[in-house]
Amino acid sequence: MSDLLTPDALDRARSDALDLFARATDLDALATARTAAIGDRSPVAMARRSLGTLPGPDRAEPGRRVNAVSQALQVAYDARRDALELERDERVLREEAVDVTALPGRLPVGARHPLTTVQERIVDVFVAMGWEVAEGPELEHEWFNFDALNFGKDHPAREMQDTLFVAPEGSGLVLRTHTSPVQIRSLLTRDLPVYVVCPGRVYRADALDATHSPVFAQLEGLAVDEGLTMAHLRGTLDAFATAMFGAGLATRLRPSYFPFTEPSAELDVQCFACRGASAEPGGEPCRVCSSEGWIEVGGCGMVNPAVLLACGVDPDRYSGFAFGMGLERTLMFRHGITDIRDFYEGDQRFTHAFGLEA
Ligand code: PHE
Repeated sequence: MSDLLTPDALDRARSDALDLFARATDLDALATARTAAIGDRSPVAMARRSLGTLPGPDRAEPGRRVNAVSQALQVAYDARRDALELERDERVLREEAVDVTALPGRLPVGARHPLTTVQERIVDVFVAMGWEVAEGPELEHEWFNFDALNFGKDHPAREMQDTLFVAPEGSGLVLRTHTSPVQIRSLLTRDLPVYVVCPGRVYRADALDATHSPVFAQLEGLAVDEGLTMAHLRGTLDAFATAMFGAGLATRLRPSYFPFTEPSAELDVQCFACRGASAEPGGEPCRVCSSEGWIEVGGCGMVNPAVLLACGVDPDRYSGFAFGMGLERTLMFRHGITDIRDFYEGDQRFTHAFGLEA
């Protein structure tokens, strides 16, 4: 009988194998121990193979011993594997635990204010067309804010309930009520032709409520050159509308009045939400444009020759166009903001919603 099949040899194989299993402290080590203890070339496997060399009647006894040992080793192996798996799972849970109550370690990242980003976005569109950026003071002289812009002496905008006058009485100083005085300053200080965009803060004697604010942001545009017509104004406004609301929206001019433009118009842009469909018969109602199909964006017109004259520009040689719009209003439409006060309260939850638009 082969030496491998003696009770002693099988006992040794068994205890060696149990030892290997016991010393394996993780699953990788256990896999190695398994090959050595019960793999194809292990003593038990060899013993089983050597059974074949015995004559039939002599196999029963050693066969039972081999079976008993390999069963015991399989049971021991399974038990050790289960134990090591449990240990690994517990360790992973412990090491990779996430404390959901912990405060975030990162510094909060701020968000750029939508008034800043929209202003930059519009200015970029005009700068790309070769325009320049012009700025003027917020504390402005009445002459720039009203007179040079052809406001009559008794124009209602000059009343105390509309305009914030600055003490002492008679100082002639106002908080500018629009960005149009920058038109005057640009024509007086720049060489012709002039193509400028003027973003800035303006002031009106309005109480703060959901749709009014005594301070708000405007963006003005002025072009003065030889041969400018309303077609140039129209094309420029289309470029603006595309930059602000996306491509493919129609624009429309409605007759209006401003002392400093003649003719004057209100600029409407087709509603970016329903694209005008809500105003068609049977169209779905639209909350953005109140089913008008159009959104009023600002005022515009051809520069009044009286304004050119006030700035020393020859109206027989030069003509121009201008436009101006409120940025909060435009953003309120674009983003469905219902309360203008959200712009000024400095609540990061508001600004964050606009993301980090560059
Ligand atoms: N200044 C006008 C306003 O504040 C807007 C405007 C600008 C209109 C330029 C025509 C041309 O309402």
